[in-house]
Amino acid sequence: MTTAPAPLRVALLGGGVVGGAVARQLALQADDLAHRVGRPLELVGIAVRRPGRDRSELGVDPALFTTDAEELVTRADIVVEVIGGIEPARSLILSAMEHGASVVTANKALLAEDGPTLYAAAAAHGVDLYYEAAVAGAIPILRPIRDSLAGDSIRRVIGIVNGTTNFVLDAMDTSGAGFTETVERAQALGYAEADPTADVEGFDAAAKAAILSSLAFHTRVSSADVHREGITEVSARDIAAAREMGCVVKLLAICERVDGPDGPGISARVHPALIPLSHPLASVREAYNAVFVEAEGAGDLMFYGQGAGGDPTASAVLGDIVAVARTRVLGGRGPGESAYAELPVLPIGQAITRYHVSLEVADKPGVLAAVATVFARQGVSIETVRQQVVTDDQDVSRAMLIIVTHAATDAALSATVDELAGLDTVNEVTSVMRVEGN
Ligand code: NDP
Ligand code: HSE
Repeated sequence: MTTAPAPLRVALLGGGVVGGAVARQLALQADDLAHRVGRPLELVGIAVRRPGRDRSELGVDPALFTTDAEELVTRADIVVEVIGGIEPARSLILSAMEHGASVVTANKALLAEDGPTLYAAAAAHGVDLYYEAAVAGAIPILRPIRDSLAGDSIRRVIGIVNGTTNFVLDAMDTSGAGFTETVERAQALGYAEADPTADVEGFDAAAKAAILSSLAFHTRVSSADVHREGITEVSARDIAAAREMGCVVKLLAICERVDGPDGPGISARVHPALIPLSHPLASVREAYNAVFVEAEGAGDLMFYGQGAGGDPTASAVLGDIVAVARTRVLGGRGPGESAYAELPVLPIGQAITRYHVSLEVADKPGVLAAVATVFARQGVSIETVRQQVVTDDQDVSRAMLIIVTHAATDAALSATVDELAGLDTVNEVTSVMRVEGN
């Protein structure tokens, strides 16, 4: 007589947007998942903050809900952390590992702040740590970088990894409206949170850039290492200027291997940038995410899809659950941390890119020459210059100079802008935007 294989016990920490969808899918797909893993998966508990809340739409036994997450992690083979934030998520993950459970998490904030601690605990206790959902929701991007491209050498990863900001910038581009008005519209439509700070100030994207950089360049990179600028300063005028030069403005997470003055290093940064309409990332609309990877052997690769939402994110979480469950069944462990390259993370001043600079200047002879002299003195080469003359109600003429540079360091460009702002003939440096994706 054959006995049925014992189920693998799955504990869910969090039953919100992502946790709820994971719980529902575990029940709906139970038979298929059992076949794919080789053993059934049994949901043994869901830790939440408010156990009395009606969650009948999830279709799970109400007796599974608990507020005692500490106890729950002691009786599972796989712990899925979808609470978010640093604590208690970190302590619960570490406790789960101590008790022998493999961990799946979607927690970008924690991984980007303290990933090495989690990896060390996973190694110490011989368990797995998977987190595909932490970057770009449903899009399989971490395992392609970690596994599929493990034999290649990645030069650059450029991503639109925050759906909220992409929605806002896309809506500004389509409607011509300003930032504040568009964020309010995004909130009304449910695309932006009531407090949109983490998204619009770039914190969410910076955490994802840290995770992408760590995996792509086999080096520890934390959120604090990532240069971050959000989209709050992007104006309708910037968007219109981008259009005029055949570009769109996107909030990009850029992770690249660069040759600094002291050898190779990593540039990891999040900021708004102009990208040409011909670049694949320019066509990423609304709240979609996409990640563009440039590798030596593979060439250019593009990953596109939904970066958030319950079911899309649960898809990535479930994929990780199956992966760690399979290693439980078959033995062995999934990959651990790979940080052998130990490349330095270079300061933003050493990042190299092109720039779009708009200046409002006096409309008189010699101004263009003076401006060009500043660029030349700082070693920043000008690619194109365009001038528009505006005459106001008092019949005073002012000229707008729109300058696009060749590639230069951020330090040289900053020095150029500082010097330009000090010229008598420059009324205002109205905007400075980076140009990415040739
Ligand atoms: P939610 O706020 O919707 O859910 C959080 C859940 O955690 C809730 O069920 C909450 O309980 C529970 N919780 C909070 N504090 C505790 C605690 N101290 N003990 C036990 N349970 C607790 O978050 P999301 O589902 O949106 O996000 C979860 C994670 O997934 C985050 O790390 C997030 O960054 C990540 N993520 C989210 C995506 C998304 O689209 N939402 C996309 C990709 C990643 P209660 O229900 O009682 O309030
Ligand atoms: N707040 C994120 C976004 C979703 O707007 O993309 C989860 O990472």
